[in-house]
Amino acid sequence: MAEVRLQALEKRFDRLKALDGVTLTIGEGELFALLGSSGSGKTTALRCVAGLEMPDAGDVLIGGRSVLSRQPYERPIGMVFQSYALFPHLTVFDNVAYGLRARAYAQGGPLGKTRVLGAFVSRRLFPPTPELRRKVGDALALVSLAGEAERMPGQLSGGMQQRVALARAIVTEPAVLLLDEPLSNLDRKLRVSMRSTIRKLQQQLRITALYVTHDQEEALSLADRMAIMDHGRVVQLGTPGAIYDQPATAFVADFIGAENLLPGEIVANESDVVTVQCGALRLKVAARSGSSPTEAIGTKVRAVVRPQSIGLAPRDAPLAADNCVEGVVRFGAYLGSAARYEVAAGDTTLIVDVPDPRPGALLAAGDAVRLGFAAGSVILVPET
Ligand SMILES: Nc1ncnc2c1ncn2[C@@H]1O[C@H](COP(=O)(O)OP(=O)(O)OP(=O)(O)O)[C@@H](O)[C@H]1O
Ligand SMILES: [Mg+2]
Repeated sequence: MAEVRLQALEKRFDRLKALDGVTLTIGEGELFALLGSSGSGKTTALRCVAGLEMPDAGDVLIGGRSVLSRQPYERPIGMVFQSYALFPHLTVFDNVAYGLRARAYAQGGPLGKTRVLGAFVSRRLFPPTPELRRKVGDALALVSLAGEAERMPGQLSGGMQQRVALARAIVTEPAVLLLDEPLSNLDRKLRVSMRSTIRKLQQQLRITALYVTHDQEEALSLADRMAIMDHGRVVQLGTPGAIYDQPATAFVADFIGAENLLPGEIVANESDVVTVQCGALRLKVAARSGSSPTEAIGTKVRAVVRPQSIGLAPRDAPLAADNCVEGVVRFGAYLGSAARYEVAAGDTTLIVDVPDPRPGALLAAGDAVRLGFAAGSVILVPET
């Protein structure tokens, strides 16, 4: 367990700035997620920590000490890749033992301290000692693969292969675990269960973890803290709850799944209520702070209203709320735990989630409805 610090990291590939001054600190034992769209620099940041990429400027510190001059295998890290990257010709046991053997080899094994090549770091050069057997056995047990040691990766399911990769990453007892989209090759059900496998393991071993993903749900559900990246920069950093509750920009709001992001302008600002004109809709918004720059009259903003914050009733039924809007259902979908509707309201379309719908009792396109939501449920973010 160790603190990891990325300090003003910069990395260019030709004219492209993949990292443009990334600074963040991952606390000891923390699981920190890097979330961002494709090409935002997540993998490059992780590879700089791993030593697979050398930054042009800035520093990477683990436990307070710069690791830039150290080779990847000299850094106290374990890494899990999206593609598993298992050796197909090695058994599960030898795949997991690889990390230990590579380390022994790098520290002056039979062939001296030269570049480590997977093909050479074998059972022949490093026959399993009782200690190696114990460590590999422990790592496999931690990922519930104790009985699979002699199987080949090709005989295992994707989820099992990813657990082998996880065992291989932790067998050297690294202080830091680096995971690059480890679950994106798995189907949804497996992804969700592997999430908790990784989280439990990380907490049990108290490893500091850096977890790269472009899946906002994964980041929100797993991370102690997270950073949203865009074009090589960190655009917001905080706990999942804080980022979800108060996205700093429209980009962040959009990225973490704000389906309703209405462009508007502040038209009134009384003591505790701000009024925003969003096209034909006039919304009351609870003021967050008197001095917020997004709350001055005339400011162009975007209003975030979450689908689950909006109440829905038939047009002829009463509905009391700070904001009441009449609308017409355009489309409805039964999602099991919720029904999701697209409702045309004024000159915009709002997405509305109704929890616990009765199957078969879905509203139909054309149904007239009333929507209501509280002033406190609307979040204002800067326009850009
Ligand atoms: N070795 C390389 N040579 C040239 N360009 C690269 C190299 N590695 C990354 N890039 C570029 O740097 C930018 C950041 O890439 P990176 O792989 O870090 O993004 P990412 O956030 O991990 O994206 P993804 O979600 O697609 O994995 C991209 O535009 C990518 O094309
Ligand atoms: Mg990547």
